[in-house]
Amino acid sequence: MAEVLKAEGLSKHFGGLVAVNQVSFQIKPNESVGIIGPNGSGKTTFFNLLTGLFPPTRGRIHFFGKDITDLAPNQRVLQGMVRTFQLVSVFNSLTVWENLVLSTLRFHQESLSEWGFLFSPANRESIRKSCFEAMKGVGLGKNWQTMTSELSYGSKRMLEIGIALSLRPKLLLLDEPMSGLSDLEIVEVLEILRRIKKDLTLIIIEHKLSKIVNLVERLCVMNEGVFICEGAPDQVLNDRAVRECYWGKGEVTLS
Ligand SMILES: Nc1ncnc2c1ncn2[C@@H]1O[C@H](COP(=O)(O)OP(=O)(O)O)[C@@H](O)[C@H]1O
Ligand SMILES: [Mg+2]
Repeated sequence: MAEVLKAEGLSKHFGGLVAVNQVSFQIKPNESVGIIGPNGSGKTTFFNLLTGLFPPTRGRIHFFGKDITDLAPNQRVLQGMVRTFQLVSVFNSLTVWENLVLSTLRFHQESLSEWGFLFSPANRESIRKSCFEAMKGVGLGKNWQTMTSELSYGSKRMLEIGIALSLRPKLLLLDEPMSGLSDLEIVEVLEILRRIKKDLTLIIIEHKLSKIVNLVERLCVMNEGVFICEGAPDQVLNDRAVRECYWGKGEVTLS
């Protein structure tokens, strides 16, 4: 089958800084890929290009064979490309359920106005069902009425992943979903990711290598805006250039 996502020669320049430098990347249906690399190597910028937050300086992006390079971020979400951010981004002043429903509605806004979506009970029911399933899927079923401000950082992260899932992604991009979490919370997130990856295509940026070597089928190592190595996790971890880049900078840990 064709690739879910195909990026060709993607670059992003910030003034004189080349954050992403002619990167090509593809992912097949149901594949799980980890992107690792030192701080500042361009991982988040690469996600920002894929998801449309920044226009690329150069290069094209295809999603299920269609050129989406010029598509707005919310249009990409509607087509099934959903991401989470490196820092948790949920509304503290809303309940768990409100966060889920409002986020889902926000992304469906265009279809709402174009198709009279709001007035259709079937579509309202479909959104409610997606939100409910996503909430249960991330273990927040019991907390649906809880104010988000009262959740632990770990639970907020779960909620954020829940919001992403409620949008029924075909491709899910997670930017360091385990950062800032306790060991116990990391185990919980990993359990959720293991479960959900069966039904979707996943790209995950992560610093804690040991956590994802058994989760993903392929690792891409980014350094100074380029992928310096790509392959099966075992093979990548034993690569000389990767080890030099890691332990040379002393930033990315295996633990
Ligand atoms: N909006 C921006 N404006 C200017 N420079 C940026 C911007 N976003 C990222 N950068 C720079 O691009 C480089 C890559 O950053 P980033 O993609 O966040 O790396 P990573 O996610 O791997 O830590 C860094 O040097 C960073 O300072
Ligand atoms: Mg980052």
